[in-house]
Amino acid sequence: MAGEVEISQVLLYARDLKSQYERSRARERQLALAYRRLRAAYQQSLRYALDLRDVHGRLQRAFLQSLLGLANALEARDPYTRGHSERVARLAQRLALRLGCSADERRVITQAGLLHDLGKIGIPEAVLGKAGPLSEEEWVLMREHPVVGARIVSPLEFFSEGALIIRHHHERQDGSGYPAGLSGEAIPFGARIMAVADVYDAMTSDRPYRKRLACEEARRQVEGWADRLLDARIVSAFLGLPADGCFDPTV
Ligand SMILES: [Fe+2]
Repeated sequence: MAGEVEISQVLLYARDLKSQYERSRARERQLALAYRRLRAAYQQSLRYALDLRDVHGRLQRAFLQSLLGLANALEARDPYTRGHSERVARLAQRLALRLGCSADERRVITQAGLLHDLGKIGIPEAVLGKAGPLSEEEWVLMREHPVVGARIVSPLEFFSEGALIIRHHHERQDGSGYPAGLSGEAIPFGARIMAVADVYDAMTSDRPYRKRLACEEARRQVEGWADRLLDARIVSAFLGLPADGCFDPTV
């Protein structure tokens, strides 16, 4: 009798164990299913994120292209500035190459050259094309253009270095420039390159208030500004450019 009781208890125990095992197997299957769903959802979010990043990048590049078109259109309206940014960009690119900048740095410098005066969009044409000296208020407006330009390109996350070059392209080595009065090495390197290209092209272009200088004379002036106004190393790179003794900005 006692033996029968023990056998039935063992059977009960075994059935209990079996049902516990089946419950645990069912839970494992549910967990595996939940894990697969979670992984699929994660992979889908990852695909969405990559798609979004791709769209964001394409939008940013399209925005940059629109700005380049806008800068070009702005300059083209004025015979005195037509082609200025393109020449500055080309000269800055040559200087950057000579100074050992990487391909990425050269690309940013070239794009910044094309956009460096975009901030003049807010300056009335009467001021931009004025034949005589500017009044104090007009100078205030004119001096804002690097900051305005940098602000316009600021949504371009991949172009933060370019924005810095635009903001500081009128700084001078002795701190006499604008907008921040930076001096020496505190001026971003790309902005120092841009300054040399910009002043040379400005000197060799006609302006409403003066005729262009001969390129040899402009080269002498750039040389004379080394150290005090322009970075001497960049001026030396400029003077060393192969240009048969005279770099013609229109070529
Ligand atoms: Fe400028």
